[in-house]
Amino acid sequence: MTTNKSKSPDSLRSARWYAPDDLRAFGHRSRAMQMGREPSDWEARPQIAIINTWSDINPCHTHFKHRVEDIRRGILEAGGFPIELPALSLAENFVKPTTMLYRNMLAMEVEELLRSHPVDGVVLMGGCDKTTPGLVLGAVSAGLPAIFVPAGPMLRGNWQGNVLGSGSDAWKYWDERRAGNISRDDWIAIEGGIARSYGHCMTMGTASTMTAITEAMGLTLPAASSIPAADANHIRMCAASGRRIVSMVWEELTPDRIITSSAVNNAVTVAMATGCSTNAVIHMIAMARRAGIDMTLEDFDQASRDIPVIANVRPSGKHYLMEDFYYAGGLRALMTRLTDYLELNALTVTGETLGETLQGAEVFNDEVIRPLSNPVYREGSLAVLRGNLAPDGCVIKPAACDPRFHNHTGPALVFDSYAEMKAAIDDEDLDVTADHVMVLRNVGPLGGPGMPEWGMLPIPTKLVKQGVRDMLRLSDARMSGTSYGACILHAAPEAAAGGPLALLRTGDLIHINIAERRLSMEVSDDELARRRTEWTPPKPAFSRGYGWMFAQHIKQANEGCDFDFLETGFGPAVGEPDIY
Ligand code: FES
Repeated sequence: MTTNKSKSPDSLRSARWYAPDDLRAFGHRSRAMQMGREPSDWEARPQIAIINTWSDINPCHTHFKHRVEDIRRGILEAGGFPIELPALSLAENFVKPTTMLYRNMLAMEVEELLRSHPVDGVVLMGGCDKTTPGLVLGAVSAGLPAIFVPAGPMLRGNWQGNVLGSGSDAWKYWDERRAGNISRDDWIAIEGGIARSYGHCMTMGTASTMTAITEAMGLTLPAASSIPAADANHIRMCAASGRRIVSMVWEELTPDRIITSSAVNNAVTVAMATGCSTNAVIHMIAMARRAGIDMTLEDFDQASRDIPVIANVRPSGKHYLMEDFYYAGGLRALMTRLTDYLELNALTVTGETLGETLQGAEVFNDEVIRPLSNPVYREGSLAVLRGNLAPDGCVIKPAACDPRFHNHTGPALVFDSYAEMKAAIDDEDLDVTADHVMVLRNVGPLGGPGMPEWGMLPIPTKLVKQGVRDMLRLSDARMSGTSYGACILHAAPEAAAGGPLALLRTGDLIHINIAERRLSMEVSDDELARRRTEWTPPKPAFSRGYGWMFAQHIKQANEGCDFDFLETGFGPAVGEPDIY
């Protein structure tokens, strides 16, 4: 790895706090000594922030309490000094209404933590869904050298010898329970077996997708994202990341040198080849735009047509989980199969190019990481649809749904809220067939609020008992990356912002044609104009606080759901005026 020094010790950012012979610096030095530190702990020594998203309520980050010590060890070994800074832990399963409401809060917290403290570089500890984009967004805007430490996937789940995958098998067995095919005792045993270790979800859900994207963008050490959380290699990766960030400070290897359009293209390529979570679209657009790269939904649609899905990992793939993916060679191995699509000259945190970091990587299991000649899906990781229901676009995973829905017409069954849908879903008299399109609206960025993962609407119990396991569903919500089925998501503009989805009525015919990338309702423009005169926006969820601010500034899904005032158009990150 490159360790060339291009920065002098007295030009370290932290020296602005510690070096001057004045009263302010006296305060900083004396208070550091109050914590038992010596001048040698800060003099000519990079101060490295470790932003840790550990908490007592985040099972995906349980091990961060220990891993942070390994990162500290690495930083000290390389001549830096660690400063742990806790941040929002955003536990996906516990935070209501959705962690997505707080992704931007974490991003702002990271940017401000780094801006306001005497640190020269940062190690970002994340993995549970929104923590990865939240940390990266903040670090990109702060502009200090940054390296990402992924939490790593948990071990495979197990129930009576059956392999269980995060999320996917919860939905699957819940349908079986509603159909009366498994007992309550079975269900309780599944609860105890589906999450067997610390680490993030081990399907190719949002967490695995986002950490893979982060590695593909060059922000982690090579191979970091695939290592299971419970594997000793994960401990070594943490220490190595700590060592590497110190060199990155001396090399002034800042995120703007790494997150270039080449890096972003590489991330999209890898996302497509892994059969990524639909959430990746939103987060990637936001991250790219923070880096000044104007990414749109069309970039994903085009990539989806070009790049085959070769990671045979659930939910897009069959059978396998992240632990299998790691044993098959992990992300580096997958990228060796994509060299014709990747921009191999992109710089990584190692100081080497992506191409250099792939040297020596190989695939050990062609069934888990398929060759391009035998993909899981030729194309179709994601498709972007447009039409009079979603003029600014919406997304679907064609590969994850029953092919009969690729070209389908059916009547809408519209719910205005999650509560309304939930109250109706078990009703045996519900007027619904397998050809209906179930619609949930007012659950977008503004309406949700925060765009919860409600887009995989449950199949009505009446239909589940008839054996129906997939049907078309449409919403302005997101869905979990571990979900599957014919779910059209992220409809933009959302209903709560006055998008045409708000004008749809139960019984209207909806057409979907994935090959033509079209989604429309059979309602005339005149009738839509008439309905608009009758439409009133839903009452805002918040009248004060963060939620109120969120509603004033959140952008739509096709624009990455960032706050308008955080994008690069608002100017460079704020520094620390010398006067302080
Ligand atoms: Fe944390 Fe799935 S709940 S990654």
